[in-house]
Amino acid sequence: MTLPILIRPAIASDLHAIIQLDVTSNPHPWSENLVADALQTRKNWVIESLDAASVNLLGWLTASVVLDQSELELIVIDSSVRRQGLARQLIMVWSQTVAQQGIRELLLEVRESNLGAIALYESLGFELVGRRKNYYPIEKKGQTGQGHEAACLFTLRI
Ligand SMILES: CC(C)(COP(=O)(O)OP(=O)(O)OC[C@H]1O[C@@H](n2cnc3c(N)ncnc32)[C@H](O)[C@@H]1OP(=O)(O)O)[C@@H](O)C(=O)NCCC(=O)NCCS
Repeated sequence: MTLPILIRPAIASDLHAIIQLDVTSNPHPWSENLVADALQTRKNWVIESLDAASVNLLGWLTASVVLDQSELELIVIDSSVRRQGLARQLIMVWSQTVAQQGIRELLLEVRESNLGAIALYESLGFELVGRRKNYYPIEKKGQTGQGHEAACLFTLRI
């Protein structure tokens, strides 16, 4: 079944819905300030549900641009609508839009344990180009200092 959705650039009034989406569906949610900063200073797209019975925002992608590269900062899809191709569609919109603006390479970093996201990126042609040891802290609820895990670096020429 295809979900009735619209993928569009984010606007300032999406802030609270994005924070809500991130808190509920991202295992490592950003602070409200970080989301607000991303909305002001990065390129952002959201997936809006066109089904009145569903939550309003189903996905968010934020990316930075430096020279001819664009780096994915975060993609998050509502937990209730996963494995329906929404992340793939959102990445395609990011890729096609920045390609039209002269970007030639996409970059991203992902936790080594995030096998679902890694499968997503590899399915889109991203290539593993590096690994940063002990890059991300591993948090457990109510505890800190649990250690670190590696970041995998992926790129895609577009
Ligand atoms: C990673 C994430 C964005 C994927 O969103 P999604 O909409 O479910 O992904 P898609 O449906 O577009 O998946 C496309 C393909 O990616 C791969 N994939 C996605 N999630 C996967 C999973 N959990 N396990 C294995 N493969 C997966 C599959 O190849 C899938 O195609 P298929 O369903 O036909 O097999 C989503 O799980 C999420 O928001 N996770 C929490 C935030 C996060 O970890 N973000 C990435 C770090 S920045």
